[in-house]
Amino acid sequence: MAISAEVKKVTDPIYQKISSAVPEIEWATHAPYIYKINKLKKEKNAVILAHNYQTPEIYHGISDFSADSLALAVEAEKTKAEIIVMCGVHFMAETVKLMNPNKKVLLPDMRAGCSLSSSITGEDVKNLKKQYPGVPVVSYVNTSADVKAETDVCCTSANAIKIVNSLDVKKVIFLPDDYLAKYVASQTDVEIISWKGTCEVHEKFNDEEINEIRKNNPGIKIIAHPECPPDVINASDFTGSTSGMIKYVKDKQPEKVMMVTECSMSDNVQIDNPNVKFIRPCNLCPHMKRITLPKILDCLENESNEIIMDDITIEKARKSVERMTKIGR
Ligand code: 13P
Ligand code: SF4
Repeated sequence: MAISAEVKKVTDPIYQKISSAVPEIEWATHAPYIYKINKLKKEKNAVILAHNYQTPEIYHGISDFSADSLALAVEAEKTKAEIIVMCGVHFMAETVKLMNPNKKVLLPDMRAGCSLSSSITGEDVKNLKKQYPGVPVVSYVNTSADVKAETDVCCTSANAIKIVNSLDVKKVIFLPDDYLAKYVASQTDVEIISWKGTCEVHEKFNDEEINEIRKNNPGIKIIAHPECPPDVINASDFTGSTSGMIKYVKDKQPEKVMMVTECSMSDNVQIDNPNVKFIRPCNLCPHMKRITLPKILDCLENESNEIIMDDITIEKARKSVERMTKIGR
């Protein structure tokens, strides 16, 4: 697509904002898509939700609401739009559908999965419940609807500790992220029975590289996502959900920061915090990166890649998400 004078006029203000993260040569490709997507979403009364790991041209260029998994689930409950495009991964689009069974929920690439979500099935949860009768199941929102349907209450990295404590029990089954489970266990007296799932992005970090970066950057603040291994969390200054990490940078304005998480986070947060220097060893999430502007335009134009689920799964799974959003952050 070529850049017309109209496209240039409408998209130039967006480019001025994100030019530190997107080279001009790339912008020439993005601008016509951004123009078309923003026009089409108005015509179709559609809303675009984006996770914090989406690339800057999506996060800053076309999304109506960008956030962590918890805020996306809460926002999904509130939206009035008829069509919801989820720029994120499959479990996020499913969660939106659970909260909006009568709306059209689209995911620009159906292959956008998650290593945590694919580490466990609904059958696995049924077996765990047989093994530990009466023990409540807390599932990370990074799970399929089948797993959520077997779950008492969901959680995200933003509220996992609060959710576990809210149950007022001695023991919980917490799945599927073994590292998040270990982090929660370190912050509560509740006994945690975990599952051996990991995030393929966060498990790649290690404390040696963190300590090396700290040595070479005196005064740096290192902030990590709780999906990281325990040695990484212990070597960091702060642990929080993606939005928790964003808030830390916004509030504290450290001179230098390293976000131990997916790469696009630093790009997106740098744009909003120009005085903070970002040190960037990071890992890409291949699933999040499947979402691109051409695919977003295509699914919005054709209303394709719709999330379809049966009513019984929706009913059962929704309860576990609703319990979570009631407890909140
Ligand atoms: P947040 O809930 O912190 O946004 O994390 C979701 C995720 O997939 C992190 O890898
Ligand atoms: Fe899943 Fe990890 Fe990608 Fe988040 S970063 S979507 S947990 S694979």
